[in-house]
Amino acid sequence: MQDINPIPQEVAGKVALVTGAASGIGKAIALLLHARGARVVAEDRNPDVEQLARPDLLPLVADITEDGAAERAVGLAVERFGRLDILVNNAGIIINKPVVEMTREDWERIQAVNATAAFLDAREAVRAMLPHRSGAIVNIASYAAYFAFPTIAAYAASKGALAQLTRTLALEVIEHGIRVNAIGVGDVVTNILDEVVDDGPGFLAEHGKAAPIGRAARPEEIAEVVLFLASERASFMVGSVVMADGGMTVTAG
Ligand SMILES: NC(=O)c1ccc[n+]([C@@H]2O[C@H](COP(=O)([O-])OP(=O)(O)OC[C@H]3O[C@@H](n4cnc5c(N)ncnc54)[C@H](O)[C@@H]3O)[C@@H](O)[C@H]2O)c1
Repeated sequence: MQDINPIPQEVAGKVALVTGAASGIGKAIALLLHARGARVVAEDRNPDVEQLARPDLLPLVADITEDGAAERAVGLAVERFGRLDILVNNAGIIINKPVVEMTREDWERIQAVNATAAFLDAREAVRAMLPHRSGAIVNIASYAAYFAFPTIAAYAASKGALAQLTRTLALEVIEHGIRVNAIGVGDVVTNILDEVVDDGPGFLAEHGKAAPIGRAARPEEIAEVVLFLASERASFMVGSVVMADGGMTVTAG
């Protein structure tokens, strides 16, 4: 009988970069990668990310939309840990505004974080991974890459772009041993809506009840999917957008 996979150390010896790691899903991802053996650079514009500091978990306070941010973040991973094996493009922001009220600045701010910075980080990560002929990139997309609600046009478009970046880049780099996948995340109880509604976590917990599973996710449940996609266990997964949404996109209503 084949041995059971040694899940607790499934990314041992790997070096990972996680964006948006100060809170919510990104924090859970950084901590789980670290717990399962990876050395991690945890990047966020929020200085709270420094609270994650521990041996082999290096916080980086930076805004991923700034010129040169991708080069600096990947460069730090290579300088401190010798290489980069895993990139998780997790940082994301949302606004809720009808299209007719949305300014060009609103639109571009959302694309800059959710799509453009993910492209720049992925490009830089691939450059670091190419010499090793291996690597995994996991993009945190959303069910909004496929489904829409009024007022989320900028966010939904950015996550659609991220899903298509995932597929296209996956085709370009698989011949070099680099796998690119994404997760279509459903409702997760985090602070992402804090600037949009009065009680962001409460709103997400309530909204999640509409999913067939009857609840929103905990960030750790999404981190488990990231760990799988980032590990050798997902060796045949290329260009997938895996839904982790409690069945939200399966049901007809
Ligand atoms: N929570 C949900 O219901 C949900 C659903 C689908 C997808 N997602 C996606 O999950 C990802 C994580 O979101 P979350 O729910 O954990 O939210 P969150 O607000 O708790 O975490 C997002 C993190 O990204 C950081 N960030 C934002 N802009 C940044 C920038 N320019 N530079 C560096 N860091 C930046 C924030 O400081 C924050 O720590 C996002 O991409 C989001 O779109 C979340």
